[in-house]
Amino acid sequence: MNLRRLRQNRHLLDLTASVTLTPKKFIQPLFVAEGLREKQAVPGLPQVFQETPASLLKQVEQDLEQGISKFLLFGVPGQKSERNFDVSFTSNQIQALKKTFGADIWLATDVCLCSHSVHGHCGVLHIDGTHIDNGASVQELAQVALAYAQAGADCVAPSDMMDARVQGIRMLLQENGLERTVLMSYSSKFSSSFYGPFRVAADSTPRSYALKDRTSYQLSPYNYADALRSSLRDRDEGADILMVKPGMPYLDVLYRLSQEMPDMPWAAYEVSGEYAAVEALGEKGLMNPQLAHVEAWTAFFRAGASMLISYGARFAREWIS
Ligand code: PBG
Repeated sequence: MNLRRLRQNRHLLDLTASVTLTPKKFIQPLFVAEGLREKQAVPGLPQVFQETPASLLKQVEQDLEQGISKFLLFGVPGQKSERNFDVSFTSNQIQALKKTFGADIWLATDVCLCSHSVHGHCGVLHIDGTHIDNGASVQELAQVALAYAQAGADCVAPSDMMDARVQGIRMLLQENGLERTVLMSYSSKFSSSFYGPFRVAADSTPRSYALKDRTSYQLSPYNYADALRSSLRDRDEGADILMVKPGMPYLDVLYRLSQEMPDMPWAAYEVSGEYAAVEALGEKGLMNPQLAHVEAWTAFFRAGASMLISYGARFAREWIS
């Protein structure tokens, strides 16, 4: 059997490829922080910044020129609280973006409490401090999602991992006449060490004495069945798009879930730590980071992703070619 006959040149490799990357499938994360005087580089993620409200608009304009029009916004407020979170800073950025770019951009906004809460957890801490109050958290999260949808977000993306938050958000949106807002659920989000650089950018490291990490609400890497149940549940509660996160260490999960639920669109999130790992090796001269990123991106689509959230989205067009 002569298999190498079809590997002879670029033309044949292109024609026989089962995966073709395009910038159209990429979503670029954006961070905007309150009270910054100038945009700040995010450690470990070259060309990713904590933006000011003004630099955010400039960055999106540049990204549009690079063929990137889908975004996932993370707002980092200046004030932290315990409850009744004030999300007006992020809502104002959504409004400004949609006023400036309108339908030229598709704007998803991350819905979570970790950047807003004094303790850095993704939900409301019970008064005894040892656990997250699920019901109170869902109420807060639904209000946050409503505020973002009312500000003009095309999509709300809950990343908190509370039970029944998709239902809570969907119901509140519906009651307020927002049935066109897309809901992208971080349905299969694992408790992971790969979120390190993100937590610096989003100022969202857990810092509670009695509840030190997110293992009581995010999924365990040791439990595939929980990822399946969580994804089925979020679909049934009204999520439009489901997600696997992180990406690379969970390609098996992405493959299995997308086979299990082929009728759903699947997003993969190449998280900050995976992206930064490639960059770090590149900096040491140990690999070509651009080729490595494209290779990783290919794997997500081969495994079943229909869209990819990556810090390198804005370089996709350049690097793919
Ligand atoms: C907030 C949230 C996190 C990420 C997205 N939304 C971090 C976390 O759960 O601690 C991680 C994204 C990344 O690492 O790029 N809940």
